Amino acid sequence: MSAKHLLALAAQDAFRPTSRFDVLAGDHVPFDELTGRDRYERLLINRVTGPEGVSLIFGATGSGKTSLISWACHHLPESHVALRVPVAALEDPGDVKVLAGTMIVAAVRATADLTDEQRTDLSATAADRVSTRPAGALVSGARLGGAMIPAALTLDLGALHQEYEREDLPVDRLHGLDRLVSVFVAREKHLVLVLEDTDAMAGGPGEQAERFLAAVLVLARELDAPMIVAVQEHHRGAMYDRLRQEGREIAIPLLSEAGHALRRIVSHRLHRAELDGVAVEEVIDDQAVTALVSVYDESGGNLRQILAVLQFALDHAVDEQAELLTFPHIRHGIQVARPTG
Ligand SMILES: Nc1ncnc2c1ncn2[C@@H]1O[C@H](COP(=O)(O)OP(=O)(O)OP(=O)(O)O)[C@@H](O)[C@H]1O
Ligand SMILES: [Mg+2]
Repeated sequence: MSAKHLLALAAQDAFRPTSRFDVLAGDHVPFDELTGRDRYERLLINRVTGPEGVSLIFGATGSGKTSLISWACHHLPESHVALRVPVAALEDPGDVKVLAGTMIVAAVRATADLTDEQRTDLSATAADRVSTRPAGALVSGARLGGAMIPAALTLDLGALHQEYEREDLPVDRLHGLDRLVSVFVAREKHLVLVLEDTDAMAGGPGEQAERFLAAVLVLARELDAPMIVAVQEHHRGAMYDRLRQEGREIAIPLLSEAGHALRRIVSHRLHRAELDGVAVEEVIDDQAVTALVSVYDESGGNLRQILAVLQFALDHAVDEQAELLTFPHIRHGIQVARPTG
């Protein structure tokens, strides 16, 4: 037991909850592991690599929807490429054409931030395309989540984007979306569309969520590509029920063995902070874990809330030069993290 473990954790903000899609995967402890059942991450990966359709990830605020999706996207086979489509920034996420256009732009953006070296690779591959070498060289770093994107694919996407910008895509943007999917298929990659930042609609009127889910339904029927959509509990309405009939739902579990699960999550954060040899009991005591379990249950399974409490407790413990996180630290964390208003 040593104050230096807590110091090291505090220095890295080891418990601070994040909303960054790419970071979440590394912080995630699979729900399959926490529950001992193959009904979460494995199931999602099996579904999106199977026939097309929409997978709904349903759960309370802060319960781990985005975290689960991020982990699954990082564990897709090479044949599949996940494309995260930002929804929160859209003025009208209920407009199918706006959503479709956003998917095209997202695909191009995801491949746009290449280094000069990668660009050179890319133009070399472009030359290859008119010579005899088969296309398919990989541009390292051009990654959407899941597999690497072949350079040639990036070029096809660029052409699609130019048409899109000039607004001369035949028919409309939905048609452009078909092309987007086929561009991937032609390169033997399968596109998986991810709409996870859908919590932005939480503050909006109920009809907004209904309209958005209706647009998802249209896209799910039109597209030959699997989709993953995160849905918060309070968006359950008539349209959600229709979607659920067509697609498949994975509901984030309320962990019954929460004490065990929270210890497992803390243990993973120790590993992330490169404190591999340190046992959970050397960092947090039983009473403190019990207090966290109460917060978890009372909040309806809000892991974001748990992590916020832990981070405040940790900072407080370090101020006190404590060697271990104990109940008074957690109590302090609960008071500070309590949502105001
Ligand atoms: N299984 C898990 N293992 C480790 N950390 C987790 C797990 N699930 C969630 N978390 C952590 O909890 C926090 C909230 O998770 P996440 O952002 O996925 O919630 P959410 O359900 O998407 O919330 P919202 O409804 O607000 O979008 C994140 O900091 C994440 O790292
Ligand atoms: Mg989320």
